[in-house]
Amino acid sequence: MKQFKIAVIAGDGIGPEVINEGIKVLKNVAELDSGFQLDFTYFPYGCEFYAENGRMMDDDGIDKLKAFDAIYLGAVGFPGVPDHISLWELLLKIRKSFDQYVNIRPVTLLKGAHLPLVDVKREDIDMLFIRENSEGEYSGAGDWLFKGQENEVVLQNGVFSRKGTERIIRYAFETAKKEGRSLTSISKANALNYSMVFWDQVFEEVSREYPEVETASYLVDAAAMLMIKDPKRFEVVVTSNLFGDILTDLGAALAGGIGLAAGANINPQRDSPSMFEPIHGSAPDIAGKGIANPLASIWSASQMLDFFGYEAHGKIVLDAIEQLLLEARVLTPDMNGTASTSEVGDRVTDIIESILL
Ligand SMILES: NC(=O)c1ccc[n+]([C@@H]2O[C@H](COP(=O)([O-])OP(=O)(O)OC[C@H]3O[C@@H](n4cnc5c(N)ncnc54)[C@H](O)[C@@H]3O)[C@@H](O)[C@H]2O)c1
Repeated sequence: MKQFKIAVIAGDGIGPEVINEGIKVLKNVAELDSGFQLDFTYFPYGCEFYAENGRMMDDDGIDKLKAFDAIYLGAVGFPGVPDHISLWELLLKIRKSFDQYVNIRPVTLLKGAHLPLVDVKREDIDMLFIRENSEGEYSGAGDWLFKGQENEVVLQNGVFSRKGTERIIRYAFETAKKEGRSLTSISKANALNYSMVFWDQVFEEVSREYPEVETASYLVDAAAMLMIKDPKRFEVVVTSNLFGDILTDLGAALAGGIGLAAGANINPQRDSPSMFEPIHGSAPDIAGKGIANPLASIWSASQMLDFFGYEAHGKIVLDAIEQLLLEARVLTPDMNGTASTSEVGDRVTDIIESILL
């Protein structure tokens, strides 16, 4: 029997609440299929760990996590710990240490999810964002000179290496080719006269290797407008770390809200674990109330099943989410329902059982 080892970092706020439901679903799928087994190991890393130990994870945390097939993460960040510490010392540390250079965020409006746009059909919102996840504007390079003085200067450098730019664009072309869909590059070469001119040049170079893939290229400001006005233009999309971060939140608003938005941080060479997470944060305003929407976290569990090679199982989980939305009976308050987090998880597992049995 195939066995997959999953490191669970439930994290802060609503993180543990939504992760519990994702694990409930994963265990349920594994129990219904005798072909594979999932083992979960919990790590207490996050802001509470920081409050006790003065660091977000163990000093050898990365070495400990390295042995796993995947990491399943809830959310990190809580009042009392500066966000740049919780982000850089845990989330970004994991993404960078394990070279998870591909961030995959589906922006697909499932049947039953709220369509927020007028003059747009539900099927028109079906994009797959591939965001560069290892360098670019989030390289962390820069300086803070003459702190607090009159001549204070802050430098935040974007880093676009040939290797980093080429590999993400090539990954996007491979995905578009496999899915038989067009590929759109989003950049900003008119204003960012080095980094984005280079990005566009590499996109053009790599595109010559994929004559079968239809391409388009937009400036990020135009892309933001077109995602609202004419979303069907976008199928597979490749963009930089910062632009991808912002546009996928816009995408989340288009595709049913933050409670439905999932993301996978992939190491395509598979020499280190990949990480699966909902894209929302720890939502301190509703933490502990049992009303957080677990669907994004369950969707990211479905991405994990895809990554393990169990695409049919991943699709069943996604179909179950869609059926739950169509039923519109067991939903959390952010989706105008009255159900609790765990009631939503229970209903998803019931639907999966009805599909699989
Ligand atoms: N990947 C991550 O771990 C991640 C991502 C974003 C923010 N954060 C951190 O989370 C903390 C809070 O950040 P924020 O308030 O800007 O963003 P947030 O995503 O936590 O919350 C924004 C709003 O959306 C709501 N919301 C979010 N997820 C929800 C869910 N599953 N169900 C129902 N409602 C949900 C919240 O109640 C809040 O009103 C900060 O410390 C931030 O740094 C972490």
